[in-house]
Amino acid sequence: MKRILSGMQPTYQLHLGNYLGALKNWVDLQNAEPENENLYCVVDMHAITMPYDRDSLAKATREIAAAYIAAGIDPKKSAIFAQSSVGDLHGELMWLLATMTQIGKLNRMTQFKDKAGKNAEKAGLGLYAYPVLMAADILIYNATHVPVGEDQKQHLELARDIAATFNHRYEKEFFTLPEPMIMGAATRVMSLRDGSQKMSKSAESDMSRINLTDTPEMIADKIKRAKTDPNPLPDSVEGLEGRPEAANLITIYAAMNNQTKEQVIAEFAGKQFSEFKPKLSDLTVEKIAPITARMRELLADQTEIDAILKDGAEKARLVAEPILTEVKDIMGFWSLK
Ligand code: TYM
Repeated sequence: MKRILSGMQPTYQLHLGNYLGALKNWVDLQNAEPENENLYCVVDMHAITMPYDRDSLAKATREIAAAYIAAGIDPKKSAIFAQSSVGDLHGELMWLLATMTQIGKLNRMTQFKDKAGKNAEKAGLGLYAYPVLMAADILIYNATHVPVGEDQKQHLELARDIAATFNHRYEKEFFTLPEPMIMGAATRVMSLRDGSQKMSKSAESDMSRINLTDTPEMIADKIKRAKTDPNPLPDSVEGLEGRPEAANLITIYAAMNNQTKEQVIAEFAGKQFSEFKPKLSDLTVEKIAPITARMRELLADQTEIDAILKDGAEKARLVAEPILTEVKDIMGFWSLK
């Protein structure tokens, strides 16, 4: 049995990268391996590390929870919860782990460099310490597996490193080193405007990404206008080399249709983008529209989502509390015995 944990930040809208790189894999895993224990959180405490809108935070948290459920995460099989509702435990473990995290390692985190930009001196401590909180999110449940997109690999390596440091320092194999699960064809979905940039929530142009809330018309328009090159599609995966935009569209198609890139290439070899793009657009609409519709239904009445989040937080707390107690005990803190 695996204990699986992952999360997404409630910032802006979820996009196709979040769906294909993470959420779809969570759903596939939940359905393929019913014996697993699954914990899916909305990492709202991470979302406040960058400027955010106080009045939208709770709403955005419900929206992400709705997206999880609409995509197929079943609250009966998976705990769905807001990180902040178990924030006392995540936050306390973060502090304990911070004492065994080397600054040199945090300095190497590329996400911090990207987000802090040129003005790193003015960035908040929260943004800098973000990977330690992420390690705590995972280790507070002693999760064994963490399904994420490729961009989270470095953070997961740090989480493993911190877990190993704890085990070594306190001479006890207490934390399982969490395994990253970087799954499916689309571990790194790229921008529709520039095949060398990751599809992201923060990219300025909305045309660069497909949001889970886009209408079928918007999806079709974005794919129609997606950047390509003048050549027809190649007849082998190697032929995609040096053609980042073509590679991205083929990857999206493959992941969405549960195929390999080879299978997609076999079907479209030699075809023009004018023929491929409408097929990609139909497939995307077919897969995304039902999720969008279900999200709308769920968000129309927040009582159901709120009940699910409350129940999920209770389940998460039951797992986390004894782990934190044991960690403190191992570290030698006083407690009434
Ligand atoms: P976040 O909110 O940026 O992204 C959520 C998930 O989506 C994946 N993803 C992508 N996958 C493929 N292509 C893309 N273009 C793309 N963009 C995003 C991410 O890899 C991620 O899996 N630090 C995390 C949140 C987090 C977390 C955790 C995850 C906090 N604590 C504990 C796992 C375990 C983040 O910012 O994800």
